[in-house]
Amino acid sequence: MNNADAWSNPSQASPEDVARMAEHLEERSGRPDMRQVNQAVCEALRPQPGERLLEVGCGTGIVSRLVAPSLEKTGAITGLDISSQFLAVARQRADSASHIHFVNALGAAIPHPDSYFDGAWGVRLLLHVFDPDPIVSEMRRVVRPGGRVVLADWDFETATVDHPDRELTRRILNWRIDHHGANNWSGRQLLRLGRQAGLKDVQVYPLVVTATDEKPALTQSLWRAAEVARDGGAITEAEHDAWVSALKERITSGSFFASLVYFIMKGWK
Ligand SMILES: C[S@@+](CC[C@H](N)C(=O)[O-])C[C@H]1O[C@@H](n2cnc3c(N)ncnc32)[C@H](O)[C@@H]1O
Repeated sequence: MNNADAWSNPSQASPEDVARMAEHLEERSGRPDMRQVNQAVCEALRPQPGERLLEVGCGTGIVSRLVAPSLEKTGAITGLDISSQFLAVARQRADSASHIHFVNALGAAIPHPDSYFDGAWGVRLLLHVFDPDPIVSEMRRVVRPGGRVVLADWDFETATVDHPDRELTRRILNWRIDHHGANNWSGRQLLRLGRQAGLKDVQVYPLVVTATDEKPALTQSLWRAAEVARDGGAITEAEHDAWVSALKERITSGSFFASLVYFIMKGWK
């Protein structure tokens, strides 16, 4: 696994890079597959009016803003993140009437008493975390008995790409899985993590996203996979260009297809 992931501690990145990362989060959230995943997380969470909910690793607050209306005026969301710069953007973007509060803290040290929340969730968080157990345990601790914890992550090794060069495709994807980002297997680990944290009735739902053109975040992730494989020396510049052009030709001819599985875990305290 990689030992460097800018998303695992954005405060170590330059202010310019963090601003770019915040913009990247917001831009990606408008892409069709991201909207599909965020909607599925909301459905798994089933927010109810008046509830007190926690989002761990909220970033710029995209999913908190999506959940907030369901809580109506009597409920409240706490968005927690390791990055004060992301939280500054989150505060600007949150509607002041939406009852979202933001807290700068570590997921492994949530500054709230036991059983404080009705539910807690984290999306695209654990794939950036090297030691996930303490975070899931903390989420369970701060949820009341009968409350729920929801976690959602992709599993990048489930990516399929219909490309004419199988060997090169495998080399790119395998490099991406093993060397870019903290943990590209986090999706398949969510069931175990939930059970290890002491959650009950843990269930995991797979959600397959597909891409047939440039719009999905998945297509952008494939371009990025080719870049990082090239920059890491797994493929040459010429192989990078050939791999990307073959996919762009398929996009133009309407024959491009890729897919990726997200896993959504829900467990109860
Ligand atoms: C890829 S971003 C996803 C943000 C948001 N969940 C979304 O889907 O838009 C990962 C987020 O997790 C945060 N993060 C990473 N490690 C964390 C930790 N140990 N505790 C709290 N937040 C963390 C990062 O700062 C970043 O905001």
